[in-house]
Amino acid sequence: MQFHVTRSSAASQRTACAVVGVYEKGELSAAADELDRKCGGLIRRVIKRGDFDGRSGSVLPIAELPGAPAERALLAGLGRRADFGRKPYRKAVAAAVEWLAKGGARDAVLFLSQEKVAEVDAYYAARYAVESVHSSLYRIPDLKSGKKPPQPKLSRVGIAVADRGELASARRGLEHGAGIAAGMALTRDLGNLPANVCTPSYLGTRARELARRHRSVRARVMDEAEIRRLRMGAFLSVTRGSEQPPRLIVIEYRGGKPSDAPVALVGKGVTFDSGGISLKPGLSMDEMKYDMGGAASVLGAIEAVATIGAKMNVVGVIPACENMPSGRATKPGDIVTAMSGKTIEVLNTDAEGRLILCDALHYVRKFKPRAVVDIATLTGACVIALGAHYSGLFANDDDLARDLDAAGRRADDRAWHMPVAEEYTEQLKSNFADLANIGGREAGAVTAACFLGRFTEGLKWAHLDIAGTAWLSGARKGSTGRPVPLLVDWLLGQA
Ligand code: BES
Ligand code: MN
Ligand code: ZN
Repeated sequence: MQFHVTRSSAASQRTACAVVGVYEKGELSAAADELDRKCGGLIRRVIKRGDFDGRSGSVLPIAELPGAPAERALLAGLGRRADFGRKPYRKAVAAAVEWLAKGGARDAVLFLSQEKVAEVDAYYAARYAVESVHSSLYRIPDLKSGKKPPQPKLSRVGIAVADRGELASARRGLEHGAGIAAGMALTRDLGNLPANVCTPSYLGTRARELARRHRSVRARVMDEAEIRRLRMGAFLSVTRGSEQPPRLIVIEYRGGKPSDAPVALVGKGVTFDSGGISLKPGLSMDEMKYDMGGAASVLGAIEAVATIGAKMNVVGVIPACENMPSGRATKPGDIVTAMSGKTIEVLNTDAEGRLILCDALHYVRKFKPRAVVDIATLTGACVIALGAHYSGLFANDDDLARDLDAAGRRADDRAWHMPVAEEYTEQLKSNFADLANIGGREAGAVTAACFLGRFTEGLKWAHLDIAGTAWLSGARKGSTGRPVPLLVDWLLGQA
């Protein structure tokens, strides 16, 4: 898909399809109005007949536009003018692209981006448009044996801005949007693959492949012997029951000066979480193939910043393994020694994410990072607390929490700040080891974060619990690509 920015008006633009907005009650956007005048009031007549009411997410094609250079128009509903903003804008773009993808138009120009909205400047309008187009066109890399549906004809999309002064920032939005979209597609592909394909070694292969595609990226994949040499006892205790060997993936993006301290991203890479000896119930256990969503978002974020060429250094660390039961598996009550030297009583082998992360978080210290963010499908409790809409955001530094929260707002990939505090950390006390790996039924997402907090003292650290946001269940089952938009927005702000 090719994108370009244009300043032309809907009335004079030559295109296979001019996408123009209409607000509720048939109120025309400026672009729809210009086009309407050019073709003798055709659009107003269509609306007057009652064929289109401008509801958010609705579209209506107009097959011919006598008098205008555009071959056809697509009216896209913008909802109520007073409510117009980020969400209805993105909804309108997505609905238009969904229609375009099924039709015969090879190119289109989106004039929706000319509408003035407080929270969407030209940069974000272009960026969201590119993201929306890509996510509407995304297809799961399925293993269905039948014929694949034909590729959409649409191959070129223009994004129209209202003023010349907006061209440069819209172009930047377009570039950043393309990077974010590439990152999200990688994250979604990895999440959607089944666990018998997407194994720890497969994640390692994909990290190396990412490094091959970008000169600024280097990947190193460590095997079990090297992980043992690093004395990552907590990580190793999770992989014990599995036939699949674990991997520790280190992927570095170097876009800044060699002396710039990197930002570290640490992603949970459990390629299948059966619960281990504390076996999960059978219902929906298949969804635990997504338990590497944190790892996938680290690779996606690196893909994005490398595509964009952001002037900064980022290091990604991914502990990858399976969590399986077997005669060799770690048992409830076993005590293991983390890389940091702390001992952990594993009271529940299904609280495995924190065990692999605590070693990876300790390991990142060697990079002297200016900030560390870990991303993990860590707790069912976070899904209960926040559902599928907001990721859980935890931090030991209020400025970092504020920056990530703001990035989530701008990227339309929200997170909600939750506490990390001594009162909760006390729930992790053990009679037998330095700490237990679970803290009881109450505040499960918070005690999980507090567990990680015990391994990140002295670091500027945040944790994103994406258990609810990384994938969708039900009819639209699949990986969402979140929180790549949040992460990349934040990273670009650090560059
Ligand atoms: N991967 C799960 C968390 C999860 C659950 C993600 C449901 C998405 C949907 C994690 O490893 C886990 O099993 N956590 C346990 C922790 C508990 C044993 C303290 C949980 O949330 O039940
Ligand atoms: Mn688990
Ligand atoms: Zn898990």
